[in-house]
Amino acid sequence: MAKELFAGQRKNKYRIVISKNAISKKNLAPLLKNHNKTLLISDDGVPSKIVREVAAVCKPSTKVFKIILKHGEQAKSVQNFQKILNFLADNNFDRTDLIVAVGGGVVGDISGFVASSYLRGIQFIQIPTTLLAQVDSSVGGKTAINIVAGKNLVGAFYNPKGVIIDTTVLNSLPNREFKAGLAEVIKYAFIQNKSLFSLLKKYTKKILLKDQKIIEEIIFLSLQTKAMIVTKDEKENGIRAILNFGHTFGHAIEAHGKYKKILHGEAVAKGMKVASKISYLENLISEKEHKEVIALLQNFEFDLSLEQYKYRELKPYIFRDKKIKAGKLNLVLLNKLSNAVVTNSFDTKSLQKGLQD
Ligand code: GLY
Repeated sequence: MAKELFAGQRKNKYRIVISKNAISKKNLAPLLKNHNKTLLISDDGVPSKIVREVAAVCKPSTKVFKIILKHGEQAKSVQNFQKILNFLADNNFDRTDLIVAVGGGVVGDISGFVASSYLRGIQFIQIPTTLLAQVDSSVGGKTAINIVAGKNLVGAFYNPKGVIIDTTVLNSLPNREFKAGLAEVIKYAFIQNKSLFSLLKKYTKKILLKDQKIIEEIIFLSLQTKAMIVTKDEKENGIRAILNFGHTFGHAIEAHGKYKKILHGEAVAKGMKVASKISYLENLISEKEHKEVIALLQNFEFDLSLEQYKYRELKPYIFRDKKIKAGKLNLVLLNKLSNAVVTNSFDTKSLQKGLQD
């Protein structure tokens, strides 16, 4: 059974549909009406069958153009941004036309940023094809590209017109990527969603075996939390920061490996271990609760070793975090399970101790 959720406020409210075979006329037709042209943006890491399927569904109602980027983080470049804008202008796209992003977070981020800036904004739809993008980046309106100084330093908050989450596309996702995506699912259980926590504990094996029904349920519960938080705080002035649980350390670990050694979700799993340990050291959670966090991550077979990361090597990255405000590092910690808080009042020694295995 298809599940649906809504995110965004008033005029910027959008529908998120989650089901197997969600890439269908039924789901797309209402989003396509009134658009003459559609630019479909994807990359060569996305199975071409999925791109063809989306194009076929869009076709009779709109004229379909395609841009297939080279896959990888490098695709979120200023050059590609400019290339897509020129393509839109050369093909006379106007404000009534549409962009459809079919891919993971990279495709969604650059497509959304193009949509936010071309003619000061045209509409776009997200069709995420990785678990990570389905449970995180496709919802919430964060769009971005990278510049030499860093990742995601240029972007906009710009909500899509709709999000279509087709769980069948996960069947062709490499296992390592699927598992890395589960880190973000687990994150929602730690920061807010108790029902998701129970489900993850109960159905670990089934989830790892990609049981369709239970996957649909965990995506729904993840997005229930995400949609609620991003609707309350669209521009990250407050509560939205809790979505970054484990990310300060995760980003530092990714940057330390030059974004080549470890996937985002794998780094976030290690980062959640660190953030949980600091929460315990700061007496916000008990030892038993901290052990529960570690046990869940281990049951999902995450490599939680930290031995190759020295505090002094990670420190520069930790202190370059976007959550620094007025020179103070804000951390997302757990204050009980399924209850995250943002705080800048912690003993800095805990940072170092948190990174010890
Ligand atoms: N991925 C964190 C956020 O959307 O705010």
